[in-house]
Amino acid sequence: MELKNKVAVVTGVSKGLGLEIVKLLLEKGVIVAGWGRTQPDFTHPHFHFFSCDVADEAQVAKAYTDTVAALGEDIRILINNAGFGVAGALESMSTSDWKSMFDTNVHGIFYTTKRLIPAMKAADEGHILNVASIAGLNGVANFAGYVGTKHAVRGISHSLYMELRDYGIKVSTIYPGSIQTHFFDDIPGMDAHEHMMQPADVALTIVQTLETHPNYFVVDVECRPLRPKGKK
Ligand SMILES: NC(=O)c1ccc[n+]([C@@H]2O[C@H](COP(=O)([O-])OP(=O)(O)OC[C@H]3O[C@@H](n4cnc5c(N)ncnc54)[C@H](OP(=O)(O)O)[C@@H]3O)[C@@H](O)[C@H]2O)c1
Repeated sequence: MELKNKVAVVTGVSKGLGLEIVKLLLEKGVIVAGWGRTQPDFTHPHFHFFSCDVADEAQVAKAYTDTVAALGEDIRILINNAGFGVAGALESMSTSDWKSMFDTNVHGIFYTTKRLIPAMKAADEGHILNVASIAGLNGVANFAGYVGTKHAVRGISHSLYMELRDYGIKVSTIYPGSIQTHFFDDIPGMDAHEHMMQPADVALTIVQTLETHPNYFVVDVECRPLRPKGKK
C-alpha cells in the first residue's frame, strides 16, 4: 500500500513498540490516530491522540467516533499493538489478572477491528496488523494466560484474513521475540536489556509489511534477537 496521506489507527502508543510504529508511520506521511490509555510525550501535526482503554468497548466506540469526526471514516490501517503480560504460576494467578489480559490482548482487538472493517471494505483496501508474540506460537512456563491470549490472536488473525482477503483487506500477524520495551517493568525477575530486539527495528518490519504491493500478502512474521544473551 502507498502509505502517504493514509489514515492509520495504532493502539497502545505511549511507549515501547507502539510509539516507534507511530513515529515511523509519521515519517512515511501517514496521518496517525493513536488510541491509548496514556498520551505519549511528543507532538506532531499529523498525530492525533484519542484517550482509550481498548479493554473497554464503550471507550473504543468513543475513540472511533471522535477519530471519524476529526479525520474522516476512511481509515485504511489498523495496528493492534496494545497488550501486556502478567507472569506467574497458574494456580496463584488472580482471576482479575487473567481476565484483564484477555480483555486487552484479545477482546480489545475485537472491539477495534469490527469498527474499522466496513470503511476498508468500502475502499476495497485495508491492512490490519495484529501484534502477537512468539508466545503465540509455543508454550512458556509461568505465562499460561499471556500465551493463551497470543495464541488467540493468531487464530483470530488467520480466520479474519480468510474472511477479508476478497475485500482487498490484508490481516497480518507479527510474532516478536523479546523487545527492549517497558513490557518487562512489572514482571518479577525479568528485565529488558540491550540484547533484546530494539522496538524501532520491529516497527520497521511492521511498516515494510504495510508497504507491500496490494496483491502481495505477508501472513505471518516471526522475528527474534539473533543473540538473545549477547556474543559468547
Ligand atoms: N516487549 C516484548 O518482548 C514483546 C514481545 C512480543 C510481543 N510483544 C507485544 O508487543 C505489544 C507492545 O508491547 P511493548 O513491548 O511495547 O510494551 P510496553 O512498552 O509496556 O507498551 C505497551 C503499550 O500498550 C499500552 N496498553 C496496554 N494496555 C492497554 C489498554 N488496555 N488500552 C490501551 N493501551 C494499552 C500501554 O499503555 P500505558 O502506558 O497506558 O500502560 C503502552 O502504551 C504488546 O501487544 C506485547 O504483548 C512484546
